Amino acid sequence: MKNILITGGAGFIGSHVVKYFVKKYRNYNIINLDKLTYASNISFLEEIKNFKNYFFIQGDICDMEKVQEIFNKYKISNVIHLAAESHVDNSIENALEFANTNIIGTINLLELSRKNWNKKKNNLFYHISTDEVFGTLNQSGFFSENSKYDPHSPYSASKASADHFVRAFYDTHKLPVILSNCSNNYGPNQHKEKLIPTVINSLIKNTKIPVYGNGLNVRDWLYVEDHVEAIDLIFHKGTIGETYCIGGENEIKNIDLIKMIIKEYDLIQQKKYSSVDLISFVKDRLGHDYRYAIDISKIKNELGWIPKTNFIDSLKKTVNWYLND
Ligand SMILES: NC(=O)c1ccc[n+]([C@@H]2O[C@H](COP(=O)([O-])OP(=O)(O)OC[C@H]3O[C@@H](n4cnc5c(N)ncnc54)[C@H](O)[C@@H]3O)[C@@H](O)[C@H]2O)c1
Repeated sequence: MKNILITGGAGFIGSHVVKYFVKKYRNYNIINLDKLTYASNISFLEEIKNFKNYFFIQGDICDMEKVQEIFNKYKISNVIHLAAESHVDNSIENALEFANTNIIGTINLLELSRKNWNKKKNNLFYHISTDEVFGTLNQSGFFSENSKYDPHSPYSASKASADHFVRAFYDTHKLPVILSNCSNNYGPNQHKEKLIPTVINSLIKNTKIPVYGNGLNVRDWLYVEDHVEAIDLIFHKGTIGETYCIGGENEIKNIDLIKMIIKEYDLIQQKKYSSVDLISFVKDRLGHDYRYAIDISKIKNELGWIPKTNFIDSLKKTVNWYLND
């Protein structure tokens, strides 16, 4: 029996993680703590809301008293920490909110885990992080667990700081922690501010599709359900104190990705003419990282995880989800 506190469970990745754990592990209690910021949508969890092993609490991870109450009431044995301010553009405008939630909120959860888990046996603090903490790559090379930290945006700087605190609690207090750093996720439930939903929504509204700079920046894309399977595996089989890099082995230039989305959208909508003319290049994002790519050897060799999803099929699924949303 585990009582797992999942933070940020009403957001994009969190909602998939919560649904997966609640349905797969009926003997675990899943306690979803989410502040319900603009980026969340609690209706994503409609289908599990009446499950006996699911509990939702609206609250802020920075609120120490409230989180302590949750530890008391539900006898929390494990934490899977996803709650975060997650949009790079917002972090450029307002870094403070990112420092609050992503750094202070994480420290708060670490402190309470440390204080509440006396023996630390059967406990785990699993911190979900991003590959953006490693900065940017040129044409060649990959990020791995050994890459040095070099964050460029206030968002990635706040996540990097949180990662360091998680490791510091392992080194200093022997708090049982695991971290994973994942590349760009896509799929249903993602907030419309992010790249793929922005493109799809522009197509739906027949408005311009904004593309930063020259569109040549490269991202590695992973379907959210593949990420969730990696999280499940790492949570159950990962080694305490270790970090795992997760990626889709699926590098695509932004402009090519946008053209692929347009192609799928036009096919689904049976458009006679391509919507490619909607593409509109706009001023580049400040501090825009050029390329992200992940070497997934460690998680592949040690835990047997590989991304299973076919990119075009899942892109189609994603386009259809936004069309029906
Ligand atoms: N989306 C990606 O491509 C990606 C890739 C790698 C890692 N990550 C990491 O995964 C996690 C989830 O990302 P996402 O894309 O689902 O983000 P999201 O913005 O969709 O969801 C974040 C959730 O956290 C909640 N939240 C925000 N501040 C909170 C607070 N103070 N207290 C409690 N809840 C709060 C929000 O209400 C929201 O439901 C983040 O930690 C992010 O850094 C995301």
